[in-house]
Amino acid sequence: MAEPILLARRDGTECFLLPAMANRHGLVTGATGTGKTVTLQTLAENFSRQGVPVFMADVKGDLTGITQPGSVSPKMAAILKERGIEAPAPAACPATLWDVFADDKAASGHPVRATVSDMGPLLLARMLDLNETQEGVLQLVFKIADDNGLLLLDLKDLRAMLQHVADNSAQYQTGYGNVSAASVGAIQRGLMQINAQGGDKFFGEPMLDIADFMQTAAAPGGSSGKQQGVINILAADKLLTSPRLYATFLLWMLSELYEHLPEVGDLDKPKLVFFFDEAHLLFDEAPKVLLERIELVVRLVRSKGVGVFFVTQNPLDIPDSILGQLGNRVQHALRAFTPRDQKAVKAAASTLRAFTPRDQKAVKAAASTMRANPKLDIETAITELAVGEALVSLLDEKGRPSITERVFVIPPGSRIGPINDDERKALIAGSLVAGVYEKKVDRESAYEKLSARVASAPAGKGGATASPGTVGNAPGSTDAGTGGDILGGLKDVLFGSTGPRGGKHEGLAEAAARSAVRSIGSGVGREILRGVLGSILGGKSRR
Ligand SMILES: Nc1ncnc2c1ncn2[C@@H]1O[C@H](COP(=O)(O)OP(=O)(O)OP(=O)(O)O)[C@@H](O)[C@H]1O
Ligand SMILES: [Mg+2]
Repeated sequence: MAEPILLARRDGTECFLLPAMANRHGLVTGATGTGKTVTLQTLAENFSRQGVPVFMADVKGDLTGITQPGSVSPKMAAILKERGIEAPAPAACPATLWDVFADDKAASGHPVRATVSDMGPLLLARMLDLNETQEGVLQLVFKIADDNGLLLLDLKDLRAMLQHVADNSAQYQTGYGNVSAASVGAIQRGLMQINAQGGDKFFGEPMLDIADFMQTAAAPGGSSGKQQGVINILAADKLLTSPRLYATFLLWMLSELYEHLPEVGDLDKPKLVFFFDEAHLLFDEAPKVLLERIELVVRLVRSKGVGVFFVTQNPLDIPDSILGQLGNRVQHALRAFTPRDQKAVKAAASTLRAFTPRDQKAVKAAASTMRANPKLDIETAITELAVGEALVSLLDEKGRPSITERVFVIPPGSRIGPINDDERKALIAGSLVAGVYEKKVDRESAYEKLSARVASAPAGKGGATASPGTVGNAPGSTDAGTGGDILGGLKDVLFGSTGPRGGKHEGLAEAAARSAVRSIGSGVGREILRGVLGSILGGKSRR
């Protein structure tokens, strides 16, 4: 049995999170500055200690401290003493830093990449904020690429493909349906925007292997040799300025986990715990189909041994259908903080601190979803909680929510706050995946093939406008001649290849670089899963 995690306490009351119940997911909410991130850090640190790998998006850059041993400030010591909580022993966790926007000049971590094909039309449509018609066109373009064996790996592939379909719409009309120039134009503009936001760095290869998220390593500086779960920290500060990119990216990752992990049922501890900070971004303006998909993935990923914890300011941010699946609850204080409200607080010196109707609703909602405690008025308590104090209800060994307790969250043994540049550099250089993802690979794919076609086509046949070179932004290395095929074949052997659906076949170089044993379900299992989840990744065309 994995050891219960002591998360919070007050006098004789102790709240334990049972690792076996971590795959019943969780929710951490509270107004800004009330202690959500610290609670997340305490949880993550404890999972790591138990050998459970963790993924978290670091929205404010303040989670990286988990990689360094902490020290207790005199102020913190005084608070802890008053709360009857022992100061935590200094402890650091092994970590891998990731960065969607990593490039040669600046990187907050190792590059994270996905292929366009793997992201699929549904998530891309969401990323580009397409309407239904435009999404339909995107689906078509994927299908045509599929049927013609054209790989969609990076953005220039997709842009070239769109251009190609637009230029030959008459030819595709009978087989696939109408492709309106206006829709293609809208998609192209969206892609240009994503490009401008740095999305070109994210799309391509080598694609992230989700097995690299599931590592264990010795604690830094530790002599015990005990293996801890590696904490994967995604630099999300820049990512947050493009909320749609952030949301789709995290969803893609969750669905990757879902697709690649085998069914395991209930374990005594999870295989991975996934923290979604600023979770409201996932749901803001998300269309109904996508919400249904998220709900489904969150539900199904549980039996793969993955626990998902949403962190957000307001419980109203989370749709009911998903809220109902989050068994472990930590509710920090809710407050209303517009400048006007602050004035009102002073004037009224009121105990009720929720002012707008939405705030009042949030308090009610939070209170009503937690299991009642006869000795506690939850609704009132929520607005009174101090920083680091919370209302906590965790699942017991039978999966029932425990009675809500008003308790103090135990701070982590690692540093609270960010690391400095030198510490970051050292972490990147010394990580388990150092060198694996740094170099972008640009294999022959749709862009190169279409460029070659245009180049070899007789002049005049719409060649000038159809040239993908006019839409792509990278120098076209059109090595698609006879020599190109041989080279391409060699490249495939070395670096792996991608099937028509973008499924990746590992190459020798890659296999050698990778020490991790991949845990991929049986072929049969994968096919069934694709059936359930198909359209979150690959759209209708995905088998
Ligand atoms: N459990 C705790 N025990 C003692 N002090 C705490 C605790 N939790 C938080 N604090 C203190 O409060 C500060 C703010 O906490 P934290 O960063 O977790 O807030 P937050 O809810 O994540 O805020 P934001 O919404 O702005 O991200 C911490 O830097 C720490 O000093
Ligand atoms: Mg925070």
